[in-house]
Amino acid sequence: MELYRKDYILKDGQKLTVRIPEVGDAKELINQMQVVDKETKFLAREPGEFDFTLEQESEFIRNNMNDENSHFLLGEINDRIIANCSVGLIQNKKRYLHRAGMGIAVLKDYWNKGIGKIMMQECINWCKEKGVEQLELEVVTQNSRAISMYRSFGFEIYGTKKHALKYENGTYADEYFMCLFWTDIKTE
Ligand SMILES: CC(C)(COP(=O)(O)OP(=O)(O)OC[C@H]1O[C@@H](n2cnc3c(N)ncnc32)[C@H](O)[C@@H]1OP(=O)(O)O)[C@@H](O)C(=O)NCCC(=O)NCCS
Repeated sequence: MELYRKDYILKDGQKLTVRIPEVGDAKELINQMQVVDKETKFLAREPGEFDFTLEQESEFIRNNMNDENSHFLLGEINDRIIANCSVGLIQNKKRYLHRAGMGIAVLKDYWNKGIGKIMMQECINWCKEKGVEQLELEVVTQNSRAISMYRSFGFEIYGTKKHALKYENGTYADEYFMCLFWTDIKTE
C-alpha cells in the first residue's frame, strides 16, 4: 500500500516531509510527544504523562493507517520527526459525519517556520476530501500563537470552557471552542 507523503520547502529553505506514520516511527513519535509536553503548557497532559509503550504507539499507528475516518500525519526534517497532527470525525453516527476535530504539535525549535500552517492545511484538505463540513478544536485561551494561526484560516471562537484544564500547581486554564465552516449552513 502506497502511504500518503508530500514534500514542502520551508521559508528557510529546509525540506519538510509530511507523511502518514509507519510502525517503525513509534519510538520517535513517543519521544516527540514527550518533548512537546515539556515545552508547552497548552496541551492536554502534564510532562511525563504521555506513557504509551512502544506496543501501544505501534497499535495506534496501525489503527490510524486502517481507519478511513481519521488521518494522522507527521512532519519530518532531515529524518527527524518534528511535528504531528491528527484529524478525524467526531463520531461515526450519521448525524455527526459533517464534523471533524483536530490536534497539532510542533517541536519548539521548529516554531515559526510555517510548519503549523502546512499541517493545518493538510487537515483541512483531508476534511474537504471526506465531505466534512466543519472542523472543530479546543485551544487554551492564553495560547495566542495557536489562536492567531487558527484565525488566519478563518476559525472563529464559538464558546469558552471555563476551567477546562487544572494544572499541578492548582491553577486553571480556560479553553475556547473554535470552528471553521466552509459550506453554507441550512437549518430546518
Ligand atoms: C501552535 C503551533 C502548532 C504553531 O506552529 P508553527 O509551526 O509555529 O506555526 P507557523 O510557523 O505555521 O505559524 C502559524 C501562525 O502562527 C501565528 N504566530 C506565529 N508566531 C506567533 C507569535 N509569536 N505570536 C502570535 N502568533 C504567532 C501567525 O499567525 C503565524 O502565521 P504567519 O506566519 O502567516 O503570520 C506550535 O506553536 C505548537 O506546536 N505549539 C505547542 C502545541 C500547541 O499549542 N498546539 C495547539 C494546541 S490547540
